[in-house]
Amino acid sequence: MNDIPELSLQNVRIANPEHVTEVIQNMIRDGQNKLQVVADFDRTLSKYTHRGQICSTCHNVLEEGHVLPEFYKDEARALRDHYFPIEMNPKLTIEEKIPVMVEWWTKAHDLLSKCHITKDDVRIMVENSTARLRDGCTWFFDQLQATDIPLLIFSAGIGDVIIEVIKHQATLHDNMKVVSNYLEYDDQGKMTGFQDEMIHVYNKNEGAIHDSDYFQKLEHRNNVILMGDSLGDLHMADGAVGVQNKLKIGFLNVKVEESLELYMKKYDIVILEDETLNVVNAILRKVLQSKQ
Ligand code: TMP
Ligand code: MG
Repeated sequence: MNDIPELSLQNVRIANPEHVTEVIQNMIRDGQNKLQVVADFDRTLSKYTHRGQICSTCHNVLEEGHVLPEFYKDEARALRDHYFPIEMNPKLTIEEKIPVMVEWWTKAHDLLSKCHITKDDVRIMVENSTARLRDGCTWFFDQLQATDIPLLIFSAGIGDVIIEVIKHQATLHDNMKVVSNYLEYDDQGKMTGFQDEMIHVYNKNEGAIHDSDYFQKLEHRNNVILMGDSLGDLHMADGAVGVQNKLKIGFLNVKVEESLELYMKKYDIVILEDETLNVVNAILRKVLQSKQ
């Protein structure tokens, strides 16, 4: 397919190869100046597992190490054990999940607000955490920067943690915009709550980024690569203007058997249990090689 051997790998599933071939062909034809990328963070740019061991999400980073008290870790873990299976349950609809996710994020954020962490605490926790960018993420970021392709990272995680992970494990370039839940600090530098409206996994079709001029300014970039691991991520680029070709790439990390059919319906390309960005990078490499 499109002369990209990675698309034929055993863990890469494509429901409609003709459609994918055409979309990639159009992206190659149009080249880098027409491309923009929108990506989720946790378990999309970051790994679900690293050499078989489960890695932290942004929120989980706060449960590792010795910075936060035991009561925080116990309660945060109990919340995740209860709510994460609901987030990933393929038998529930998004409408059914939304109120439950709002409940999870509200409880998790209220809990963190009791701990009054500082920016330094966040940096230290990230440095000692098991959060890992996928293999190939640095190449991906650097190529997008070198070719002026905008990257929107749209995450229901924690913005401050994402920025630290990227700075620590790769480079935060000026073509990257991270939209997420950012911590709010008081004059003493202690965290008191969160800024702006809450982003959870299933409201990525709403919110400030779609109301801002971000997508308007990129209206000449008609080709979008969208990358996610949750079905809510499919809506991250709903605000994009004049889209002609959209390639939806989904990472299926958990409940693979139960979710595969649904993911193949919703995502153009589904990548199973992978710790790398190899497939995305192979597609990007082809687009960048185009003579446009
Ligand atoms: P994402 O939008 O960057 O993927 O981030 C959302 C993920 O964060 C989602 O899969 C669930 C996870 N999460 C936790 O692990 N712990 C928490 O306390 C919360 C609120 C979310
Ligand atoms: Mg995710």
